[in-house]
Amino acid sequence: MAATGTTENTAGEREKAFYVTTPIYYVNDAPHLGHAYTTVAGDVLTRWHRQRGEKVWFLTGTDEHGQKIMRTAEANGVTPQEWCDKLVTAAWKPLWEHLNVANDDFIRTTEKRHTDRVQEFVQDLFDKGEIYKGGYEGPYCVACEEFKVPGDLLDGEDGQKLCPVHKRPVEMLKEENYFFKLSEYGPKLLEFYEANPDFIQPASARNEVLSFVRQGLQDLSISRSTFDWGIPVPWDPKHVIYVWIDALLNYATAVGYGADQAKFEGTFPADVHLVGKDILRFHAVIWPAMLMANSLPVPGKVFANGWLMVGGEKMSKSNLTGIAPQQLTDHFGVDAYRYYFLRAIQFGQDGSFSWEDFSARYTSELANDFGNLASRVAAMVGKYFEGALPASTADGEAEGVLHSALIEAVAVADDKMRALDFQGGLDAVFGYVKLVNGYITEQEPWKVAKDDSAAGQARLATILYTSAESLRALAVLLNPVMPETSQKLWDSLGAEPHLGPLAAQPVQDSSRWGQLPAGAVVTKGAVLFPRLEEQPARGDKKADA
Ligand code: MSP
Repeated sequence: MAATGTTENTAGEREKAFYVTTPIYYVNDAPHLGHAYTTVAGDVLTRWHRQRGEKVWFLTGTDEHGQKIMRTAEANGVTPQEWCDKLVTAAWKPLWEHLNVANDDFIRTTEKRHTDRVQEFVQDLFDKGEIYKGGYEGPYCVACEEFKVPGDLLDGEDGQKLCPVHKRPVEMLKEENYFFKLSEYGPKLLEFYEANPDFIQPASARNEVLSFVRQGLQDLSISRSTFDWGIPVPWDPKHVIYVWIDALLNYATAVGYGADQAKFEGTFPADVHLVGKDILRFHAVIWPAMLMANSLPVPGKVFANGWLMVGGEKMSKSNLTGIAPQQLTDHFGVDAYRYYFLRAIQFGQDGSFSWEDFSARYTSELANDFGNLASRVAAMVGKYFEGALPASTADGEAEGVLHSALIEAVAVADDKMRALDFQGGLDAVFGYVKLVNGYITEQEPWKVAKDDSAAGQARLATILYTSAESLRALAVLLNPVMPETSQKLWDSLGAEPHLGPLAAQPVQDSSRWGQLPAGAVVTKGAVLFPRLEEQPARGDKKADA
């Protein structure tokens, strides 16, 4: 049976990078919230693993071939390559930079490092007898770039048949094509799913794939001959390789397949492919079958996220419901944006976005619960101890409760984040924020401050140390989600001179109490989450591109 993504050496260390991918996005249009959702999730996941001290590789990129891109370029009077170049440099790459996405690489399917290797891969399959020539006729959705199963189509006006995803008429295509013998892989795939119950997540996605494969697979058309915007089939260049075969192979070509064996073995296969639920079958059925056919290892996990919905429909440019992420970051800031979708929607389920919900969470969770906590503690250390963090010498029961709660919160957050339950992970962290707020309210340091006795001052010092030390842990835990805010907090706690850079703090170690030393210079620093009504319009040149 094919091996999955995790390998450890005898010392128990990972030899292979923890490799995470996003789908590569079609460049027919500019990105919207739905695209950014998956990429931010991947960024948070990989930042979390990096902050555990793991070797990580995070890949994103763009899918540039196929009829959809070709038609868009034609409609805009430019060549497909010109269109792709423009969209990648003016829209896609700047967005990831704007959202602070720390991808290790960005692959474009028009790059030679990709196209050459795709030809080799397909040639190998052909040489192995996995590909044959045949004819096919069926309904095709250009927006999906996929032949559809007739039974899945919706009825439109005048007897038209519609794609169930895009609600747009399908086209009947009849072609002589090359076919991959996908039908032969059904039993092997089922055996693989059985042996690897976590391969497809969440459970609803797994069930969908299982029932689809159990119905029996058809061979897959892997070439097209009616247009030429694609990678030529090496043994018959009148055909171009089907855009999905081309696209899926990005996960291999970007990490050195056929070119850099050491890099390939140190990275491939992906530990997690993040995909939207509409492209699940490509990743959970076709992709592992392609790899099995070429004797390559299959991925560790395919996780299907749900859709961001607008008015009960999938948000999309073609429905004119696509909202540009910059519209929200202008108002809420980048970190709140990164936080909001992961906190508000259970990853794997559909969710709706609303300004009201975002504003409410921003104000209550970020500005009030978290931002105020940070500014109150810094202000009190300033007021009562002239900004020098006091030592904690009078720990009591209340402090013990917080120490244990932090250990629990870190353990839960670590488990949940690694399981891609971002909502659960953030719940654990923000549960701890609430506890610290409750601790300060109960301990009333402003009253204790009035007690000039040595015991009173020791209590005051302990309360403020405990609060600051809690914030130290929160900065570490929230860094993968809100890196800019966490850095501001790290700076305001004066942590760096003693503990080093924030990104070098292992998240799993953040519960170890007493890391901030007495004497750390605490300053009030910037407001972490400005009140929305007072918030000036945020101009960001990068976002304007
Ligand atoms: N190019 C293919 C993927 C190839 S991967 C080898 C593709 N591109 S896409 O640009 O159409 O979609 C990319 C991803 O964006 C998909 O995972 C899709 O599910 C996701 N989303 C597009 N709209 C979305 C929402 N409204 N909500 C959440 N994700 C959505 O498919």
